[in-house]
Amino acid sequence: MQIPQSFLDEIRARLPISQVIGKRLPLKPKGRGEFAGVCPFHDDHDPSMSVTDVKGFYHCFACNAHGDVLKFVMEFHGLSFMDAVKELAGEAGLPLPQPDPVAEKRYQQRQSLAEVMELACQFYQAQLKQHGRVAVDYIKGRGLSAATVQQFRLGYAPDDRGALKQALMNHGVSEQQLIEGGLLIQPPDGKSSYDRFRGRVMFPIMDVKGRVIAFGGRILGDGEPKYLNSPETPLFHKGRELYHFNVARQAGYDNGQLVIVEGYMDVIALAQAGLPNVVAPLGTALTEDQVQKIWQVVDEPILCMDGDKAGQRAMQRVAGLHLQHLKPGKSLRFVMLPEGKDPDDVVKDGGLQSLQKQLEQAVPLVDVLWDIAGGNQHYTAPEQRAAFEQRLMGFVAEIQDPVVQRYYRQAYKDRLWQWQRGQGSGKKTAQRVSNAGRMGSKPQDIPVQMRVTLALLRLLLNYPILLEDGAIEETLLDLPLPDQAESARQALLERGEDEDPSAWQSYAAELPKDGSMVADELTEKQAKLAWDFLLTRYELSLLEAEQALLSRDGNTTMEQLQSLSEQLYELRRLEKMRYIAYESELDL
Ligand code: UTP
Ligand code: MN
Repeated sequence: MQIPQSFLDEIRARLPISQVIGKRLPLKPKGRGEFAGVCPFHDDHDPSMSVTDVKGFYHCFACNAHGDVLKFVMEFHGLSFMDAVKELAGEAGLPLPQPDPVAEKRYQQRQSLAEVMELACQFYQAQLKQHGRVAVDYIKGRGLSAATVQQFRLGYAPDDRGALKQALMNHGVSEQQLIEGGLLIQPPDGKSSYDRFRGRVMFPIMDVKGRVIAFGGRILGDGEPKYLNSPETPLFHKGRELYHFNVARQAGYDNGQLVIVEGYMDVIALAQAGLPNVVAPLGTALTEDQVQKIWQVVDEPILCMDGDKAGQRAMQRVAGLHLQHLKPGKSLRFVMLPEGKDPDDVVKDGGLQSLQKQLEQAVPLVDVLWDIAGGNQHYTAPEQRAAFEQRLMGFVAEIQDPVVQRYYRQAYKDRLWQWQRGQGSGKKTAQRVSNAGRMGSKPQDIPVQMRVTLALLRLLLNYPILLEDGAIEETLLDLPLPDQAESARQALLERGEDEDPSAWQSYAAELPKDGSMVADELTEKQAKLAWDFLLTRYELSLLEAEQALLSRDGNTTMEQLQSLSEQLYELRRLEKMRYIAYESELDL
């Protein structure tokens, strides 16, 4: 059963934490709703644990144990979350909420639909092995290795109207579920349902948890449509998901770079060539939701467009579409590949190096817009120049964020001035101009650890309410930050009661670029979940640094390395869980 957040809030509101803990061990009042006690979570005789009612938190200064009433009761009695809720509900005199049958049912359905999709994926994979000679030949012909096929779980849908239907129904899956999952097509005239995917190479699409939620099916060779995709289902919303995001999220963060390509095959070819930080949208232009997701990983993803008319159009559309959502530090860069090439071709022709070269030349959005407005033309008449300036400022007006808008206006004003001189004297200023609007260093120049600490700070600047949690405030105190961030930290630590939150934004704008990883306009709960996953990410980066250090040190024993890699494994798992908790809260 899912416990609604409001019920947990009610428990916290009714039970002062000092009362809950005071029932279980002696607490001494220290005034102002603060108490001290001997921490039960480590061996101690001193009152190192502080308990604060206004914050609803306990914190041990010796062993760092901290949390709220629920966490305390769970840890103290070794209870599960559910049992701790029951226990405290009893103490608060609250009846447990009745299960919400509608929400419950929806949850169950999605759960079982995910199982159906997994079975379908396994079926297609098995078909490829057993009867997929033609498909295997096709896949080999495209240069994919057996390991890659395995990794991306590619499969084959036999050219048969009932193969999947029969196999999965024999497995106990209902026809209704198969239709709901988009695997069968139900003709409207009451004729019997049949397999949607036939005679195609199957590309499973995973969500961030790695669960199969949809498929793209490619025809073998030429034909229409080239790709057939799953329809929208309760599990699959194509405008929200990204192909390969479950893997690229981590890789992108570590590299400080995320590449967006157009096609499934591009993603796979690049991953096989050694570039795992690549995603693709799912048969539509990049949506706002998708860009928001990507901005949680890196500040300036690179859109790598096919070198064709469609790619050109897509670039213009994307540039225009995402202009309005730009945020401080968040932008896009663009690579237009050579005529007739897609990323898959580039890697095939010249190896990963040749693609990397292209990526290094990625053009910032500010320059792309300049060109779209017509900045690469030569104007002689003043009216033409005025029209150009008007188009440019029209773009600027679309930017909703006032700070970004101001910088864009300024960048274009400077540039127009240089450009006028350039055009007047007939000199080429393209090069000078294209660097004029760039600010700050590239995120990948900043080490991962620093990027995470900056991301934590940025989160606090956006959601200072988080600092009401004493443990978070303390983390801020100890966070290693670069000098440019000191004034922001000071301001946060000395903040007054009702300070204008917009004041913090200007501090955020001054910070070096990082992968700030967190969406805008979070609720307090979402911000807290974001904090939790970023903090784990930070701990992970510390441990990774330690590992790097130890593995270079000749005196390190195998046991040390072993134990470290176990810790790393655990922490990665925790980070992923926390990210998913945060992500699924955004989904609601
Ligand atoms: P591309 O035609 O560039 O596909 O379309 P690709 O992945 O590079 O495939 P190959 O190399 O020709 O085999 C880009 C993306 O657009 C969507 C798919 O998501 C595809 O990966 N698409 C394309 C469709 O959904 N349906 C289509 O018919 C074509
Ligand atoms: Mn292609």
